[in-house]
Amino acid sequence: MSRFVKEKQKVMIVTDASLVKLGAAEKVSSVIKDLNAEVTVFDAIPQNPHAPDVYHCLDQVKESGAHLLVALGGGSPMDVAKVVAMMATDGGKLEDYQWNFRQATVAPLPYIAIPTTAGTGSEATKTAVIVDRDTKKGFGGDALFAKAALLDPEMTVSLPAHLTATTGADALTHAIEAYVGRGHHPWTDAMALEAITLLAEYLPLAYADGHDLLAREKVALAAAMAGLAMDQSGLGIVHSVSGPIASHYDVPHGLSNAVLLVEGMKYNLQTVPARFARVARAMGVDTTSMSDHEAAEAAVDAVDRMFQNMKVPGDLSDYFEQYGAKEEDIPKFAEEACAMFLMRNNPRTPVPEEMEVIIRKALGC
Ligand SMILES: [Fe+2]
Repeated sequence: MSRFVKEKQKVMIVTDASLVKLGAAEKVSSVIKDLNAEVTVFDAIPQNPHAPDVYHCLDQVKESGAHLLVALGGGSPMDVAKVVAMMATDGGKLEDYQWNFRQATVAPLPYIAIPTTAGTGSEATKTAVIVDRDTKKGFGGDALFAKAALLDPEMTVSLPAHLTATTGADALTHAIEAYVGRGHHPWTDAMALEAITLLAEYLPLAYADGHDLLAREKVALAAAMAGLAMDQSGLGIVHSVSGPIASHYDVPHGLSNAVLLVEGMKYNLQTVPARFARVARAMGVDTTSMSDHEAAEAAVDAVDRMFQNMKVPGDLSDYFEQYGAKEEDIPKFAEEACAMFLMRNNPRTPVPEEMEVIIRKALGC
C-alpha cells in the first residue's frame, strides 16, 4: 500500500456494510492512516449495484476530494469504484459510457483493488457491470483498469464456505468460457488453462478449510488469471443467462453461474469437443483412452462432481420463491440471453427455445 498512498492524501475505501462489520474496512483504514493519509469509507455498495449506486458513490468521492480510491470487496465494490474513478475526472453521465460507447479521454483517479472474494476477477479487468434499464449491462475501457490489485489471501479467510464455492465457480466459469469461446488465442489459453488447473486442485481445499492460506492464495491467483483471460477472449452462454436472471431476481452472480455451468458445458461441448477435452485434462482427468467427445463429457462430469462435493445447489429452486421467479418470465429470459453481447463469443449459437430448456433446468421448473 505504501507504494500507492502518499502522505496527506485523501483516500476513500469503497466497500459494503458487511466488510465494515467484519472489520476488514478498519484493517485497511489503519494501514492507510499509518501512512499519514486521510481515510473515509463509503460502505453502501449492494450485491448487484444499480446506476443510482454509482452516482451516490461519485457524489461522496467529489465531496470528500479523494485522490485515491481503494475498492475492498467482491466484484460489486470493484466495479463501482472503477467506474466512479473514471467519471470523477472524465465527467459525463453513466449512460454515455455504459450504453453509448463513450471512452474516457482524461486519466482516471487511481484506484487500488483489494478483493475479499476470489471469483469475479474484476481486479484484473477493464470491464464493469452495473444494472441499468433492468439489465445487468457490462461495458469496458482502458480507464477502468486498476492501478494495482493487492491479492492478500488473509483478506479472503472470512469468506464462508458456500461463498468460497460459488465465487470460485464464477472464476472457473470465466476460465472455461474464455477457453472454449470464439475469441480465444494462445495468451488467453495459457491464462485460462492454468486458472482451471489451480481451481481444480485448490478450490476444494479452500472450501474445506477457509484458513488454508496456500489454497486461498492459489484460488485468488486463479481468479485474477481467469479475469485476464475473459477480458481478452470474452465469455459465453453461462454469463449470457446469468445476466438476465440477476437483473430481475437479484440472484448472486457466482451462484447463478455455478448452477448454469454444467448445462452450458453440455450445450457447447459438441461444437468444440477438443477444447473441452483439454479442459478435462486441466481438471486432472486422465483422458488417455478417451475420444475428444468422451473427454469433453468427462470435463462436464469433473465440474459437476466438484460442485456437488462443495454442496453447490443443482438448481435455483430453493431461491425460486425467495426471488419471486415466475415461470412465464422464462421465454423473456431466453430472448434476452440470446441477444446478449456476451453470446457472440459462445462457440455455439443458441435459439431461444434451446435457451428456455437450459433456463428451466437452472430455475428447477
Ligand atoms: Fe462472472
